[in-house]
Amino acid sequence: MAEVYTNVGELVTNDPTHDGTLLGLIHDAAVVVEGGRIAWVGPAATAPAADTAHDLGGRAVIPGFVDSHAHLVFAGDRAPEFAARMAGEAYAAGGIRSTVAATRAATDEQLEANLVRLLAEMRRQGTTTVEIKSGYGLSVGDEARSLAIAARHTSETTFLGAHVVPADTTPEEYVATVTGPMLEAAAPYAKWIDVFCERGAFDADQARTILKAGIAKGLLPRMHANQLGHGPGIEVACEVGAASADHCTFATDDDLRNLADAGVVATLLPGVEFSTRQPYPDARRFLDAGVTVALASDCNPGSCYTSSMPFCIAVAVRDMRMTPAQAVWSATAGGARALRRDDVGVLVPGALADLAVLAAPSHIHLAYRPGVPIVSPLPEGRLPLET
Ligand code: NIG
Ligand code: FE
Repeated sequence: MAEVYTNVGELVTNDPTHDGTLLGLIHDAAVVVEGGRIAWVGPAATAPAADTAHDLGGRAVIPGFVDSHAHLVFAGDRAPEFAARMAGEAYAAGGIRSTVAATRAATDEQLEANLVRLLAEMRRQGTTTVEIKSGYGLSVGDEARSLAIAARHTSETTFLGAHVVPADTTPEEYVATVTGPMLEAAAPYAKWIDVFCERGAFDADQARTILKAGIAKGLLPRMHANQLGHGPGIEVACEVGAASADHCTFATDDDLRNLADAGVVATLLPGVEFSTRQPYPDARRFLDAGVTVALASDCNPGSCYTSSMPFCIAVAVRDMRMTPAQAVWSATAGGARALRRDDVGVLVPGALADLAVLAAPSHIHLAYRPGVPIVSPLPEGRLPLET
């Protein structure tokens, strides 16, 4: 059964062969969908016949957002911590332990209900692919169950046992646990392995050891790097061939050269700087250095509790010197690169039919109309709808 979406005012394909630009725009376009995949895109006037037709009334259509960085398996609330931050306190990631305590105390049902609620929120705002990390369990059993719950909702699951060292153990003991029994229990549910490489969390040697243990177990590396200050995170991410180094708030020119040479995506997380009052990274510096940039939400209860990719786009354009086109590309095709996926983030024949419709004539409105809910998903995507 083929369906055609026609009278699309502006279609963002992310396939530059259409018009020679980053977003591969087609005006007055149509999209044919069959069996959950894109069958055809092009000018509406030349669209092939289909079983059913939907007139989109001149609206813009973009690929669904690919949110390549989120921490959605948790319990508890850290609103008071946010309020204290806005009153002048610094973010130091110390609150992670309070989420760990709440997460350990929650039932599987409570954790999954919270996850499903957040996924529904994301879906309503146009996200169709999401990566979900563990990292609030920090025991063998709690990390494994966090990932088992996440794996019921996405194939992009990430083992982040190395988030912080829990209070009841030493760093040496904990690294041995993460690379031993915890990795063993987590690996069946995880595609990726991640480390928070930062002063106060894990240093370069520990991060290298943990990522290499994950790689030996068949997991693919990614890294939380250079969030709170300059450190070795980006360097180690490049050394081990990570798909992405995330945050990159404090990156030197050498770091940028390293990322470009190693082909490691820099995933920038504008909501974190917004919610922690840290300085924004200058995305244009990364782009000028030839680095592939992704934008993601980092939705988590501590450093950034937004699930909204349109919000991230608006902030990246306003405060990180991205053009609207670059920000939209980074939130779709860039996220797909960060997850090493070529079937999402683009609207080309064969890709998944993950479409987002804008109640607007162009992608620019995502940054031009901040905070306005102009996105709706179409058709039913792979993330669960409201339950
Ligand atoms: O990506 N930086 C480490 N982890 C999260 C924050 C975790 C928390 O504060 O709960 C992040 O920002
Ligand atoms: Fe994160």
